[in-house]
Amino acid sequence: MTAGRWVARWERQQQRYAIDREERFTVIADVVEHVLAGRDRPLVADLGCGPGSLAARLAGRLPYATVVAVDSDPLLLELGRAHHADAARFVRATLGADGWTAALELPGPLDAAVSATALHCLSEGALRRTYEDLAALLRPGGVLVNSDMLRPDGSRTARIAQHVGRRRAERQGTPDREDWDSWWAAAARDPELAGLLAPRPVQQSAAGGHNGLTLRRHLALLRAAGFHDAGTVWQCSTDFVLVAVR
Ligand SMILES: C[S@@+](CC[C@H](N)C(=O)[O-])C[C@H]1O[C@@H](n2cnc3c(N)ncnc32)[C@H](O)[C@@H]1O
Repeated sequence: MTAGRWVARWERQQQRYAIDREERFTVIADVVEHVLAGRDRPLVADLGCGPGSLAARLAGRLPYATVVAVDSDPLLLELGRAHHADAARFVRATLGADGWTAALELPGPLDAAVSATALHCLSEGALRRTYEDLAALLRPGGVLVNSDMLRPDGSRTARIAQHVGRRRAERQGTPDREDWDSWWAAAARDPELAGLLAPRPVQQSAAGGHNGLTLRRHLALLRAAGFHDAGTVWQCSTDFVLVAVR
């Protein structure tokens, strides 16, 4: 009950930042479904899963898949375990840190790794290590599917795309929604969540936590990590779904 309420509030809060959140989830599932066609028990990892929003959508679309959902935050993981218990196995690990891949205890090579609004939180060094580790974890032909807001590259068209995104957000009313800091402040006041918040590291802010990487930089890092084909399959404003094939 408590978990359901906090997850619903999380979904609304996240949509403030990713207006097309639901569409992106669908696009990710489309990509994964296409790549996994013909595989009996595919293995998928959700990177920076939060309370399991994407993992749950994937499990709904692809019930034959095994989903491992990884995040560093104990509260969000616990909400996921409580509210989306059947969708995934939730694992606490810090992407790009020593030993993070071992913590997943994967039974075999990954068929796909997916992520929503999370990889922008990683420093470039941590992201480089994460891409290299994923290249080793994915089977040949497996894919990384990352949906995230990327930093505009400074070109005129990128600035126009930013403007289009701002106008769209105004039309949808998303700037009026609860923001990241307010959600965490409210969670900190809920006595039922107190034990889960206590051991958390200092929370990074959603607005301030962007690594500043552009699409071009992501693609260069992916190719350097061993992905032989990488590009975008969906875009709205500065919001992208990026696919990289191992
Ligand atoms: C904006 S939230 C998105 C969560 C979820 N994917 C969603 O769409 O609802 C970003 C998530 O990335 C997680 N995260 C950030 N840096 C991380 C890291 N280095 N390792 C694991 N998780 C991380 C945060 O704890 C948070 O759950």
